[in-house]
Amino acid sequence: MTESKQADIFYPSEEVINQANVPEYEALYQHSVENREEFWAEQADTLGWYKKWDSVLDESNAPFYKWFDGGEINIVHNAIDRHLENANRNKMAIIWEGENGQVRNFSYNGLNREVCQFANVLKSMGVEKGDIVTIYMPQIPELVFAMLACAKIGAIHSVVYGGFSTEALASRIDDAQSRVLITADGGWRRGKQIDLKSIANDAMMRSPSIEVCICVKNNELDVEMEPARDFWLHDLKALPIASSKCDTEQTDAEDPLFILYTSGTTGKPKGMVHTHGGYSVYTSTTHRMAFDIKPQDRWWCAADPGWITGHSYIVYGPLINGATIMLYEGAPNYPYPNRWWQIIENYGINILYTSPTAIRGLMRFGDRWPQKHDLSSLRLLGSVGEPINPEAWRWYHHVIGQDKCPIIDTWWQTETGGFMICPLPVTPLKPGSATKPFFGNVMTIVDDDGNEVPANEEGKLIVNNPWPGMARTVFKDPERYKELYWSQDDNGNWRYLAGDSAKKDEDGYIWVIGRMDEVLKVSGYRLGTAEIESALVSHPQVSEAAAVGLPHELKGNAIHTYVILKQGVAPSKELSMELRAHVGNEMGKIATPEAVEFVDALPKTRSGKIMRRVLKARALGQDEGDLSTLEE
Ligand code: WT7
Repeated sequence: MTESKQADIFYPSEEVINQANVPEYEALYQHSVENREEFWAEQADTLGWYKKWDSVLDESNAPFYKWFDGGEINIVHNAIDRHLENANRNKMAIIWEGENGQVRNFSYNGLNREVCQFANVLKSMGVEKGDIVTIYMPQIPELVFAMLACAKIGAIHSVVYGGFSTEALASRIDDAQSRVLITADGGWRRGKQIDLKSIANDAMMRSPSIEVCICVKNNELDVEMEPARDFWLHDLKALPIASSKCDTEQTDAEDPLFILYTSGTTGKPKGMVHTHGGYSVYTSTTHRMAFDIKPQDRWWCAADPGWITGHSYIVYGPLINGATIMLYEGAPNYPYPNRWWQIIENYGINILYTSPTAIRGLMRFGDRWPQKHDLSSLRLLGSVGEPINPEAWRWYHHVIGQDKCPIIDTWWQTETGGFMICPLPVTPLKPGSATKPFFGNVMTIVDDDGNEVPANEEGKLIVNNPWPGMARTVFKDPERYKELYWSQDDNGNWRYLAGDSAKKDEDGYIWVIGRMDEVLKVSGYRLGTAEIESALVSHPQVSEAAAVGLPHELKGNAIHTYVILKQGVAPSKELSMELRAHVGNEMGKIATPEAVEFVDALPKTRSGKIMRRVLKARALGQDEGDLSTLEE
C-alpha cells in the first residue's frame, strides 16, 4: 500500500468543497482538541434541552465520565417533538419499502402519532421509566416506533438483531431481565417468510422473565400466541388507552437510553449502555458534519436498526437532524441484483451508507446492474464495519458514485456510539483508510508498553480522551467495563483501548487493520469466538470446540471451527452438516460456520486457553509464531 500512496489520493471537487457544512478540517480539529468542552458545548447547544447542563464533562470518577451532567433532555424531544414545531412537521421522516414492493411513508407528524400510540400501549402494560424492554423485530417501521416509544417514556430498549436466533435472544433477555418483549410474527427475506415469533416463543421458555409479549403482524404466518402473555399490537392500538398523544418524559442527560449487546473477548456478550444526553449530541454532530447533511437530504443507511449502525445512523442521528430516512426490508439482490440501485433511483437517495461486504457482494454481479439506473442523485457514499479493500473502494467510487461522490469510510464501534475516525467530504481520501480522527478525539497507535509507535508501524489503536457518545458502562458490570477498555498512562491519563490494530502514516492517516482479540467480523457482523464455541458445545455429541476467522473474499472473514467429539462418537460428513446447522439455529444464520473440522486435540496454553492463533496460522500455512506457552 505504501508504494503507490501519492497516486492514490482522491481530492474533493470544487462542488463538494463549495457546499460543505464544515469547509475545513485542520483548524477546527485543533480547536476541538484544545477546547474539547467548549466544542462539545457548542454542539449540544444546537439541541433542545428542558434544562441546560451544570457541567459539560465531569471527570471526577474517571473512567466513568459524565457528559452534560445536570442537564435534562430526551432524545425523542430532539428526534421528533422539535420538528413538529416547524416546517419539518409535514416532511417525510421515514420511507419504507418491503421486499414485496409495499411502501409505507411517515411524515414527522405521522411518526409522532405512531410513537405516541406505541408509548401509550407500553404504559398500559406497566412499562415505566428505567424498565428494560427487549425488542426483536424484522426491519419494519414498527421497530423504529418501538425504540422511540421506549425512549419517549424513559424506558431503556435492548434491541436484539432480528437475524439472531433462540440462544442469542434468550441470553440477552435473561441478562436484562426484561419483563416486556416486542416482536413480530415474522419477516421477509428472498421471498420467504422468516418465523420470528416461534424463535421468540422458544427464547421466552428459556428466559422466563417475560410477562408481556407485544407482537406486530407483518406477514401471514400462523403463529402461536399464548393467552394473557401475548398480544397483537393492532389489537392494543385499537383500545382507547392507545391515544396518539403522549408527553415526552424529561430524562437526565446521563439516564440510560439503551443497552446494546456486543461480543467481546470472553464469555457472554456485554450490554453496552448509552445515554440520552451525550449520545444525542454525538450522533447528530457526527452525522451532520461527516455526511454534510442538508435539509432536503434523503439518507439511506442500509444496515439493520438492530445493530449500533442502525441505532445511531438510521434512527437517532438522522432523525435529530431532520433527514428523510430510507428503510428497506429484504435482500439487496432480490428479485434481481439491481434492487438497491432501483431504490436509489426511485426515491432519489442522496447518501448511501453501507458495508464493504455489501459492496463486494453487489460488485460481483458486474457493472451492468447499476448502469441500468440513474444514480445521479447520489452526493456522498459511506462505508462501515470493516476495512474496505481498495478494489471495492474503487468500484464503489467509480461505478456507484460516478467519480463524483467522496467515500466517507467511518471507523467506530458499538462502544463508541458514533464515528471516531472518518473524513469530512472535503478531506482528501486514500482508499482503505478511514483518514483522521473526528473532532475532539486524539487517537494514537501504541506498542505493548503503551508508547506511541513510529509512522507506518502497527500497534494498538487507542483514544486518549472521553467523548460524548462513549458507552458509559457494561450493564451490571462496571468493573468489567473499566478493566476491558481503560488504562492509565504514566501521567495518570485515562485512555480507551479499542481492541483493533492499526497504523498511522506520515500524513496522519489511520489505517485500521483488524481486531486483536477473539472477536470476528463476518460480513461486517461482530461475533465472539466464545459464543460460537459455546453453541457448538451445547450439542450433545460435542466435547470441545474452537472457532477462528479465516480470510474470505466476500465476507471479509469466514468462521472455521475445530471440534473434539465425545467419546464413541464417530466423525461424519452428516454430523459436520448437523453441527453447522446447530450453530445457525442457536445463534442465527450469520454465525453458521463455513467448516467444521474434527480433531483429536486443540492447541492450548498450559493454563488451558485455546491458542486460536495457532489454529489460524496452521490453516493458512503460516508460521505458528511463539509456541513457548503451548502445552505438550
Ligand atoms: C469493529 C466494531 C457498525 C458500526 C461499527 C461496527 C471494525 C468498524 C470499520 C472501518 C475498519 C472497522 C473494527 C471495530 N470496524 N468500522 N471503517 N474500518 N474497521 O461496530 O459491530 O461494534 O464493530 O468493527 O474492527 O473494532 P461493531
